[in-house]
Amino acid sequence: PTLGIVLVAAGRGERLGASAPKAFIDLRGRKLIEFGIAVATSLPHTGHLAVVVPEDRAAQALEIVNRVVPADSPWTVTVVPGGRERHESVRFGLDALPDSIDTVLVHDAARPFASAELFERVIGEVRRTGDSVIPALRVADTLKRIDDEGIVHETVDRTPLVAVQTPQGFPRETLAAAHATAQLHADIPTDDAELVQRAGGRVRTVPGEINAHKLTTPEDLRLLEFFLTAHAL
Ligand code: C5P
Repeated sequence: PTLGIVLVAAGRGERLGASAPKAFIDLRGRKLIEFGIAVATSLPHTGHLAVVVPEDRAAQALEIVNRVVPADSPWTVTVVPGGRERHESVRFGLDALPDSIDTVLVHDAARPFASAELFERVIGEVRRTGDSVIPALRVADTLKRIDDEGIVHETVDRTPLVAVQTPQGFPRETLAAAHATAQLHADIPTDDAELVQRAGGRVRTVPGEINAHKLTTPEDLRLLEFFLTAHAL
């Protein structure tokens, strides 16, 4: 069985307010995207990695791949230009993977410190169950519903709620079929698991991890820098 990973890194990162696209900003001297490429190609699988980047960053991404991935790696890496929306970037990445792939993971480059253990947990559960699998964290804080003015209306029961992360894992056919229906939705979902669910597929969860935190705002950048120092990554 062959593994495919789509690393989506083609977002503009507008909420971050940085001058470069999110995946190409510096974290203590390394580009954010380097971490995702390194962890994916460190997995002990024969695999294909599609790195999806803004078109004008393709050359830079190739240079990073050549530097980070050893020449004798069992991984084949391709750089693919992204789309305007995340789901388009995922589909372009999927289309770049060979037919031999049975299991595919979709991972945000904006989650640079998702661990190899988390990737393996997701892969193992997809292959064990044949379902789609996403990492999820229980919500620790009390949750309130507020209005546009920030006024609290009620406390929401958090018991059935989780926050979900990437890598999200799928039988290849399941994800490809779900993406083929994406254009039919008036509101296109923000994650791949919901596309699968809307197409009638079962999605199950495995424990997520705090390290897989996503870079969205400038505060997140400080948090990720802290992770880098704390774990000597
Ligand atoms: O913007 P957001 O944080 O939701 O993006 C999540 C991931 O999807 C990021 O890694 C980003 O680079 C990627 N993305 C993409 N193509 C887009 C939009 C987002 O690859 N058009």
